[in-house]
Amino acid sequence: MGSHNDYVLLIECLSGYTKEKSSILAIGLSFHTAPVEMREKLAIPEAGWPHAIEELCRLNHIEEAAVLSTCNRMEIYVVALSWHRGIWEVTDWMSKTSGIPVSELRKHLFLLRDKDAVRHLFEVSAGLDSLVLGEGQILSQVKQVLRVGKEVKGFSRNIGDLFRRAVAVGKLVRHQTNIASGAVSVSSAAVEFALMKLPKPAFSSARMLVIGAGKVGQLIIKHLAAKGCTKVVVINRSEGRVAAIREKVKGIEIIYKPISEMLTCAGEADVVFTCTASEMPLFLKEHVENLPHVSQELGCWRLFIDISVPRNVGSCVYALGSAQVYNVDDLKKVVEANKEDRHRKAMEAQAIINEESESFVASRDSLEAVPTIIKLRSYFERILIVELKEYLLKKGVDEISNEGVIKLGEALVNKLLHRPMQHFRCNPDENRTRSEVIENIRVINRVFGLDTEIPDFGAEIRAKVERTQK
Ligand SMILES: NC(=O)c1ccc[n+]([C@@H]2O[C@H](COP(=O)([O-])OP(=O)(O)OC[C@H]3O[C@@H](n4cnc5c(N)ncnc54)[C@H](OP(=O)(O)O)[C@@H]3O)[C@@H](O)[C@H]2O)c1
Ligand SMILES: *[C@@H]1O[C@H](CO)[C@@H](O)[C@H](O)[C@H]1NC(C)=O
Ligand SMILES: *[C@@H]1O[C@H](CO)[C@@H](O)[C@H](O)[C@H]1NC(C)=O
Repeated sequence: MGSHNDYVLLIECLSGYTKEKSSILAIGLSFHTAPVEMREKLAIPEAGWPHAIEELCRLNHIEEAAVLSTCNRMEIYVVALSWHRGIWEVTDWMSKTSGIPVSELRKHLFLLRDKDAVRHLFEVSAGLDSLVLGEGQILSQVKQVLRVGKEVKGFSRNIGDLFRRAVAVGKLVRHQTNIASGAVSVSSAAVEFALMKLPKPAFSSARMLVIGAGKVGQLIIKHLAAKGCTKVVVINRSEGRVAAIREKVKGIEIIYKPISEMLTCAGEADVVFTCTASEMPLFLKEHVENLPHVSQELGCWRLFIDISVPRNVGSCVYALGSAQVYNVDDLKKVVEANKEDRHRKAMEAQAIINEESESFVASRDSLEAVPTIIKLRSYFERILIVELKEYLLKKGVDEISNEGVIKLGEALVNKLLHRPMQHFRCNPDENRTRSEVIENIRVINRVFGLDTEIPDFGAEIRAKVERTQK
């Protein structure tokens, strides 16, 4: 663990100045940085998000948390009282929940802080970081994080605001640019991929099986129909989701089979798409090696396209001669075409994202000045009002009411503080950075003896440590 400590030490040296301020952190990995073998170990199903948030918020330096776990990414968003300790604690937590050693995890993790973290989430939500640029499912997934989070204590104001804004930015980008035009989904990429792998004349005759009748299953069936496939067998574990498919997918014959007949159906299929939320593989070596041969014109192997994370087809199946297995990561090859077009669309969206993340961070930073502003105002008002009253009393003026004196005092304070207040706002147009604003808050506190508790998260942290150790 020596090297891990060095890592923490290095971060500590770099941090210094910002120690006093809470940070938004994004810690995670995606298909850009980690293979599916690793992502599936970290994936947390929706039902597990509330528990994960609670666990994260019990860590000493973590105040708020959110989990964004999809087939392409596993990202943790937190508000940390100390960002370097926050990184350490979250990384450690990820290692414990997945069983992947920290040293291994670190090779694949990305760590982003404040503005960078905000910008990253906005990009994700806009579909800029997706395998298929501009695809819409990720926006529904970000919305779902928000929906689930509403019921959970540790998903509080800052993180809530961040995700609400991310959803708004996701919509804005899709609305104002043509990033989503012609965007396909992962599911259509999977169908596309199957087409590429099958011998040309075999596509229309290949026997298709879809395992899982959820959102992804539905889209696969839809795209199969669009590509001219006329018949498909679908394995549904329960009745519920079949209605949605019936309603949305037309022009293809769909035969429903229960999960108990999965292996028989696989034996009668040439192409098997697996897309269930099962946490265990549905196909292992012993199941697949005994399946009957596929149709003559397909050659000698059965095609498995597994777009589930965690995967539904076990690693042991990949080595079999009678099967060719592909997973989500293999779909990259399909979508990498048309790079120039992607680049152009991404640039359009980037402008919106820059503006939105700047403004989100600026408003968050300006909030920190609020306690100081309140104290400063009341300090001035106290003095002015007392002095005014004393003066008026001495002069024997009594027409002016108490309320009148207070109004006059407030008006004077407004005038007096109008200009100084500008220095508490982060404003890129005026070249005022966040560190300047923090410095200004400090100076005002010191000069006027306001004693607002900005610089010391130490007490909060100590209190939390004591609470959790009881
Ligand atoms: N959403 C995306 O954008 C996306 C993209 C690529 C890949 N994926 C991956 O695709 C998979 C499915 O995603 P989804 O969005 O379609 O989920 P979903 O809408 O929740 O559907 C999940 C389906 O899996 C079935 N299922 C759940 N547990 C099962 C088990 N133990 N055995 C057999 N069937 C089971 C469900 O049946 P019941 O109705 O009976 O519960 C349901 O039909 C996930 O692994 C996901 O990571 C999703
Ligand atoms: C799957 O859907 C079909 C069609 O609605 C239904 O008849 C069947 O009972 C469902 N299977 C299971 C296991 O619920
Ligand atoms: C901000 O800084 C830039 C470059 O240093 C300068 O050109 C610009 O005039 C500055 N703006 C203000 C309002 O001071």
